[in-house]
Amino acid sequence: MVSRKRVFDLLRTINIASCQCPAHGHRGNFHVTNTAISKDYAFEIKSTTVRYGLGVTKELGQDLVNLGTKNVCVMTDANLVSLKPMKAVLDSLTRNGVNYKVYDRVKVEPTDSSFKDAIAFAKEGQFDGFVAVGGGSVMDTCKAANLYSCDPRAEFLDYVNQPVGKGKPVTVPLNPLIAIPTTSGTGSETTGLSIFDFEEIRAKTGISHGSLRPTLALIDPLHTLSVPRNVAIFSGFDVFCHALESFTAIPYTERGPAPENPKLRPVYQGSNPISDVWARFCLQTLRKYFSRSVHNPDDIEARSSMHLAATMAGVGIGNAGVHLCHGLAYPIAGNVKDYIPDDYGTDPIIPHGLAVSITAPAVFRFTGNSDPDKHLEAAQLLGEDIAAKKRSDAGNVLAEVILKYMDLLGIENGLDALGYTADDIPALVKGALPQHRLLQLTPVPQSEEDLSKLLENSLTIY
Ligand SMILES: NC(=O)c1ccc[n+]([C@@H]2O[C@H](COP(=O)([O-])OP(=O)(O)OC[C@H]3O[C@@H](n4cnc5c(N)ncnc54)[C@H](O)[C@@H]3O)[C@@H](O)[C@H]2O)c1
Ligand SMILES: [Fe+2]
Repeated sequence: MVSRKRVFDLLRTINIASCQCPAHGHRGNFHVTNTAISKDYAFEIKSTTVRYGLGVTKELGQDLVNLGTKNVCVMTDANLVSLKPMKAVLDSLTRNGVNYKVYDRVKVEPTDSSFKDAIAFAKEGQFDGFVAVGGGSVMDTCKAANLYSCDPRAEFLDYVNQPVGKGKPVTVPLNPLIAIPTTSGTGSETTGLSIFDFEEIRAKTGISHGSLRPTLALIDPLHTLSVPRNVAIFSGFDVFCHALESFTAIPYTERGPAPENPKLRPVYQGSNPISDVWARFCLQTLRKYFSRSVHNPDDIEARSSMHLAATMAGVGIGNAGVHLCHGLAYPIAGNVKDYIPDDYGTDPIIPHGLAVSITAPAVFRFTGNSDPDKHLEAAQLLGEDIAAKKRSDAGNVLAEVILKYMDLLGIENGLDALGYTADDIPALVKGALPQHRLLQLTPVPQSEEDLSKLLENSLTIY
């Protein structure tokens, strides 16, 4: 049998040889490099301490006492501040005599401006502990507020990923942060990532460093019972793509270079046997519970399972990483025109899980040949009978299964339905190019022309 490395090398050679146009022929800095000298040979798995259980939020106050915090900042958004998850949090703090202040101005799908507002609040409050109660938007904002309040003289772009920012490693000690996710989606409670929309380039970027990982994640499925239908659908598709992308990302042995100091090994390392365990668990859980959790909000078994799967996928992506669906999603969300989905307020927004899933069929058709066995296995874990399927058709097989889920759960018919036309594609490609961290993990080298084609193929998907 031909080895995976051989296939990868051949694909790369074909890609280089078959086209000498400027986009393909020139190895731009977003192309995957695969020379032996530059590869890593090791991976490591890190995660937040995770505590899971129905009603586990009641332990929060005692945790903060145990951590010795005296002045705590509780961050949430304007919607959640009056809902049950916040009530459970504040009850626990009061019962345990914890002194706190609430910040409830987190922006759904945060921006650099909204981050800066939260950072100013955190700096002024001189807090010694943080609690994030919400979805990815709240948890990411809280991580940034904690970081910059611990390094008050840092410029905002110092810690932001290159090439948008300076990508400075975090060396200052951070305050303890306890994350209490209320959506079943991002897995931000276990990751060292903090994502925001950088308004100047109309695309998302973020801060990525292990120190940003919350100290503790309290995974309480009771909070998911109030999650509205569209939030359940879109955050579920975020989990879906986390599992598929981390499972199919470039293997850690294909990414490089190996760092000179182990502490410099990146957060996103490529697929590896341990992250694969989380991804497989998630795909099986999605098969059994995704649709049930959307169609019956009171189905506590389904909602609890999706909540656990979101955290599990977070451990997977937090170490392996994600690739093209996420790389393309950042400009798709950042260039939103007038799309306003139900359950997300009144401003135009393309929620993260929707932005990520909309190109997934095209992306997995594109990556299928990089590792047909894994693409077929993913399709099988999602419920497809692959007995008669050909390895050469693996990308299409997986794409068709993804489309079945998207159709069943009412995802819009492509970028066109989100307000984009073919004329927008150059701007979307431009916004994807700075996402080096993600594009480099894609298991197939890709040119600007490839990115355009993937977006073109995603204008309508059914
Ligand atoms: N840091 C990471 O590792 C990571 C990974 C993926 C995505 N993200 C980021 O996370 C953000 C998206 O987060 P999200 O999908 O969790 O949603 P979100 O935090 O943006 O929340 C979406 C909406 O759901 C509401 N909501 C949340 N929980 C609720 C509940 N229990 N009951 C009722 N309403 C509730 C919120 O108030 C909000 O209106 C994006 O900015 C994305 O880029 C971060
Ligand atoms: Fe995501």
